[in-house]
Amino acid sequence: MLNSENWTPDALRGLQRYLGLKEIDYYPQIDSTNSTALTRIRGESIDTPMLVLANEQVAGRGRSDNQWWSTTGALTFSLVISLHPPERVQMLPLVMGVGVARALNEFRGRHSEVHLKWPNDLFWGERKLAGLLVESVSGKDALVVGCGINVNQRMEEAPEDFRHHSISMYDRCGEMFQLPKVLERVLWHMLRVDDEFRRGETGWQSEFRKACWLTGHIVQVKQGEQAWVGRCVGIDDHGQLTVETEQGVTVVSSGTIRRMG
Ligand code: BTN
Repeated sequence: MLNSENWTPDALRGLQRYLGLKEIDYYPQIDSTNSTALTRIRGESIDTPMLVLANEQVAGRGRSDNQWWSTTGALTFSLVISLHPPERVQMLPLVMGVGVARALNEFRGRHSEVHLKWPNDLFWGERKLAGLLVESVSGKDALVVGCGINVNQRMEEAPEDFRHHSISMYDRCGEMFQLPKVLERVLWHMLRVDDEFRRGETGWQSEFRKACWLTGHIVQVKQGEQAWVGRCVGIDDHGQLTVETEQGVTVVSSGTIRRMG
């Protein structure tokens, strides 16, 4: 099946109805689904949950101004949901990561489980499989949860920067996946875990801890110009990373983490 044939009007209507989405804003090609979702939030009142979906994204963005490389065969979308209180928004990438991991584990077959790398990445083995980017517009009552998943791409075709650190479901499993089916399961779990989070359930925390790719490992924490090394202990109840050094345990709420051993 050609990639563009994945997103037929019938497939999109079925997805919208099954998931109870208020709207699917679909683009064969787009710069960034997150940027489009943010522009829409700035300009109008959005009925949530709604989805911005692209068959191909040409200027995908990641955390800390990183680029997100994707091509046809990847899943790239932004789920627009209603606002969470500000103190809970920082937990949202972790919560949504748990939802995405639940979904992707449904497709893993005999392969090992998907891991979560604080705060917003999903790893399979030693490589990155997916990433999340949560963004908002001040004064507006909707949040954007952007998600990119390497599904049917061959990562050997990716630019040098991504090739050695990323993996796709195809690379891992040696088979192609139906993008609409994967998207349906991912969105179903994202909406469900969001619901649990809104109700104050904390099960997502134990799932994150169990799947944490960093816990027990020596990590480098980079915050601005500063970099330091410690052993990752896990996450606390606020979704912050805890890292132990000889000076004691430090709680990390921002920065870039690299696993060193
Ligand atoms: C990261 O690796 O830091 C997060 C990557 C998030 C990429 C997704 S793809 C869909 C959505 N639109 C974007 O521009 N970014 C997110």
